[in-house]
Amino acid sequence: MVLFLLFPILLYLFHVILRDLRRIRKTSGHGPPNYPIIGCLISFYEHRNRLLDWYTELLTESATNTIVVHRFGAPRTIVTANPENVEYMLKTNFNNFPKGKPFTEILGDFLGCGIFNVDGELWHSQRKLASHEFSAKSLREFVMNALEEELEHQLLPLLESLACANEVVDLQELLRRLAFNIVCKISLGIDRFCLDPSLPIPPLARAFDMASEVCARRGAAPLFIIWKIKRWLGVGSERRLKDAVREVHAYVTVIIQNRKKKINQGEVRSEDDLLSRFISAGYEDEVIRDMVISFIMAGRDTTSAAMTWLFWLLSCHPDTEQELLKEIEYVREDVLGFESLKELVLLKACLCESMRLYPPVAWDSKHAIVNDLLPDGTPINAGDRLTYFPYGMGRMEALWGKDQFEFKPDRWFIEPDKERGALKKVCPYKFPIFQAGPRVCLGKEMAFIQMEYVVASILRRFEIRPVSSDRPVFVPRLTAHMAGGLKVLVRKRGPR
Ligand code: HEM
Repeated sequence: MVLFLLFPILLYLFHVILRDLRRIRKTSGHGPPNYPIIGCLISFYEHRNRLLDWYTELLTESATNTIVVHRFGAPRTIVTANPENVEYMLKTNFNNFPKGKPFTEILGDFLGCGIFNVDGELWHSQRKLASHEFSAKSLREFVMNALEEELEHQLLPLLESLACANEVVDLQELLRRLAFNIVCKISLGIDRFCLDPSLPIPPLARAFDMASEVCARRGAAPLFIIWKIKRWLGVGSERRLKDAVREVHAYVTVIIQNRKKKINQGEVRSEDDLLSRFISAGYEDEVIRDMVISFIMAGRDTTSAAMTWLFWLLSCHPDTEQELLKEIEYVREDVLGFESLKELVLLKACLCESMRLYPPVAWDSKHAIVNDLLPDGTPINAGDRLTYFPYGMGRMEALWGKDQFEFKPDRWFIEPDKERGALKKVCPYKFPIFQAGPRVCLGKEMAFIQMEYVVASILRRFEIRPVSSDRPVFVPRLTAHMAGGLKVLVRKRGPR
């Protein structure tokens, strides 16, 4: 039995060594020091707890803001913070840079053939349908209604009771639950789960957490073959993934079947939520299931991470918080409307500035189909991994100036000195927080509506004060988050 297991591992290692030797002989470009067979494993190990900042330093030192990383057991990886390269991979030569099998294999058991995890025609047809549905005016109204209901009936009363009890709460967890509720309401049309972080996480959210955690671990594993063997044997984390995926699939399938009945009986309109729209478009149940799971996955942790970092940054910049408050209070409505949100330009600038420094998706990779050449002269071999790196890009002096590490929302205005006014149009390849090009995040507009609505509604009623003065740690997983959450005290704002 042992020999039977060892043989494929040895064969795989032999294949990797031969492949790496061949690759290192080819052009390397800038990057960490490389050695035959092990590549940059030693420096990688030394910097394992600060990979993002290490890559950022290497990228800053590189004349073209691009580095080449050879790692034992991984494809040759080109990491770039160069907007021209980013535009090339995400738009100009989009067809040569799909997500690729190494990516889709990791998430395949969980996301199946959902939009987030497919390339080519399968992606294209879903994108077409979803873009149409996502940009629909009725969906925007639906999002505003979902937000109003979730905040007025859940979040704000909960914050009120936390303020009265002077109780510490993990704001990140609270916002994660809120984002999960909102994305479930919009995608599945299901009623909300409880927000209170002192109560257990609802089973569907727990299954989602488990599945995404194991998939993230697959992605970070030094050798893929290990998780593949565990999956084949059905043990450990792979067993837990299988159970979690079964739970998510069962849950969503029941919802699809019930919704179909309601649509047939005329109890639900086809435009009420994404699920009803997909059903009405005539897709098969499995395809619909995978589509909505992709949406929930894409929309759940991103907005909560962005808002958590913004609340922390505002607590470090009380002057900006006061100015923001003035802007929000200028809107007289009790419940914020879609048109009023558009007037909150400082809030939008603060969100962009917060995501520049702490992007919810810190890095994202594609895999080259054929040999290619990036605009900065870096050669690409078929099979290479090409990573654009929003975290590093937000910290490049070449892109943002000498104050690149500072939180300065004014940098987003055309004329910050003249009562601010309009926001700049920043090139999406310099700020690819939502990706850019044909595969740009479908939920971008919805994400801004949601974040602006939630942050403004909280700020105008409550002060949020972190209990610790330590600098939080940014952890990149599938979606980045704050290590250990953000423990805060909530205070009701007095009249001004
Ligand atoms: C601050 C919030 C958000 C950020 C920073 C963000 C960022 C991103 C990024 C970087 C991608 C590309 C990922 C990849 O291709 O590997 C993406 C894709 C996507 N996002 Fe978002 N996202 C956010 C919120 C949302 C929301 C709220 C939704 C909707 C519920 C959503 C739906 C999607 C979908 C469906 C895709 C796949 C698009 C495609 O492959 O064609 N996102 N997002």
